[in-house]
Amino acid sequence: APSGAATPARPRPVPRPRAAVEARTLRQDNWWVAPVFTVAVLTGFTVYGIWAALRDGNYFAKPYLSPFYSPCLSANCTDDASPHIFGNIDPVSPAFLILLFPLGFRLTCYYYRKAYYRSFWWAPPACAVPDARRGYSGETKFPLLLQNAHRYFFYFALIFAGLLTYDAVLAFIFPGGRFGIGVGTGVLVVNSALIWCYTLSCHSCRHLCGGGLKLLSKAPLRRRIWARLSVLNRNHMWFAWASLLWIMVADFYVWLVASGTITDPHWIS
Ligand code: FES
Repeated sequence: APSGAATPARPRPVPRPRAAVEARTLRQDNWWVAPVFTVAVLTGFTVYGIWAALRDGNYFAKPYLSPFYSPCLSANCTDDASPHIFGNIDPVSPAFLILLFPLGFRLTCYYYRKAYYRSFWWAPPACAVPDARRGYSGETKFPLLLQNAHRYFFYFALIFAGLLTYDAVLAFIFPGGRFGIGVGTGVLVVNSALIWCYTLSCHSCRHLCGGGLKLLSKAPLRRRIWARLSVLNRNHMWFAWASLLWIMVADFYVWLVASGTITDPHWIS
């Protein structure tokens, strides 16, 4: 086109009508298992998370701190193992202040979006199965437009991964400053490892490292990091589930020890 001439707008694709098939779907496998499983696990986690956040106690058993209450914001961590930022902030459970960030990260996660759009909203529930609702606006309007905040939540997620790593390191320092290893130490170390895997396999992280470049070959370091992250990224779904379930395990274990229900088996030097 001559310089200065407006580029002609591309014609919009005309949606083709659905083939005249009577059946709602031709799939004969158990496509509904995945959405039902997702609803069950996410509902279970939500119920557990509400209980854990509301209990506002028994979340610290030196040297273990529950990930639901990390970083330790209140004086209720009755030891100096973690910094107390706000002193005693009762009656608000500190978990509610903390969980806003990891929750925002997970709610806007590309994988979880797919999971809950399919399972809770049936939009659509599975490939080759139609949406429950006729209208579809994608994520172009409020409130789903807010899903774009995911890339910003990623930066907070990095901070939280660092904090949980700090807690895992502290889990080796038993009363009296003595080095030790307990079952709780292992639980918190696995927790921080899974959180790192989930965070670093994030699509936003991968884009941050390898996106926005015309030629990857011109940025060899970024290319190398991007290639490593891509390996993690392929397993993002598994890290999403494993890290979610393990946070529950870690919190429950700390609660068991802190409430005196069990004694943590450990070895101290
Ligand atoms: Fe899942 Fe970013 S895409 S955490």
